[in-house]
Formats: sequence, structure tokens, C-alpha cells
Amino acid sequence: MRVAIGADHAGFLLKEAIKRALATLAVEVEDLGTGSADSVDYPDFAARVARGVAAGTYDRGILVCGTGIGMAMAANKIAGVRAAPVVDADTARLARAHNDANVLALGARVTTPDRALEIVRVFLDTPFEGGRHQRRVDKISGLERC
Ligand code: RB5
Repeated sequence: MRVAIGADHAGFLLKEAIKRALATLAVEVEDLGTGSADSVDYPDFAARVARGVAAGTYDRGILVCGTGIGMAMAANKIAGVRAAPVVDADTARLARAHNDANVLALGARVTTPDRALEIVRVFLDTPFEGGRHQRRVDKISGLERC
């Protein structure tokens, strides 16, 4: 699995921790920035990761900011991206199983590092259930043309 990861200054340290954790799994991770805790604008990094996922360069994206909210809002502007701001393992599982989320948005200021790593593992391991959920996801995609 190819995963793109990005963060703003608020998410920088958690991004680094996630990269270290993913290095122990069979996951190919590409870091699309930011590269330090200096202040930056989260939409710039959301766009890099979201465009890469939409283009098929990456299977999944992980974005980290203070809350996960701004990253998800920005990433969801890119057609083909379904970014979910996730706060626990259960919402991570459902974002994959029901919504086929392809981008995970985490909030470094609202979750602990341990919980964030658990969320990442669940997000990467949970398959989409398809079935009735496929019809609904197709309707989300249809809204991109409105
Ligand atoms: C940056 O201070 C903060 O606003 C950003 O990381 C994020 O939480 C936005 O949604």
C-alpha cells in the first residue's frame, strides 16, 4: 500500500511519529511536508496529499493539523477524495467500512499520539464493505458534478 502523509505545523510532530510507526509495517510512505514546526497553511499540504490520492499515485492519504477539521475541509475540495476527520478507532473503522474514506484527517491537538497510531492502523487495515454503501458513495461522487 502506498500512503501519502502531510501536516501543517500543528501536526508536524504527530506526522513524524506516524511515519516511524508505519516504517515497521508493509506500507510505503511518502512525506509531502511540512518539514518543521514553523507556521504554514494547512490547505497547501491537504492539496498535495489529496491530489496524489485522486490521481492514483497513492492508495491512501493521511493529513494532520491541529484538529483534523481544516485538513478534511480542504482535501474534500479535490474530486475523488473522501477525507474523514476521525477521533477514535470506531470512527476510523466506519469511515473505511461505510464511506470508503481514502484520506484520514487527524487532529494532533485533540488526540493522543497512542490513539492516533491506533486510528491509523485501523484506517489502513479496514476494507470497504461495498454493497449498499457503494450506492451511497457513488451518490457522493455524483455531487462532485453538481
Ligand atoms: C493551526 O493553528 C490550526 O488552525 C490548524 O492546524 C487546524 O487545526 C485547522 O483546522
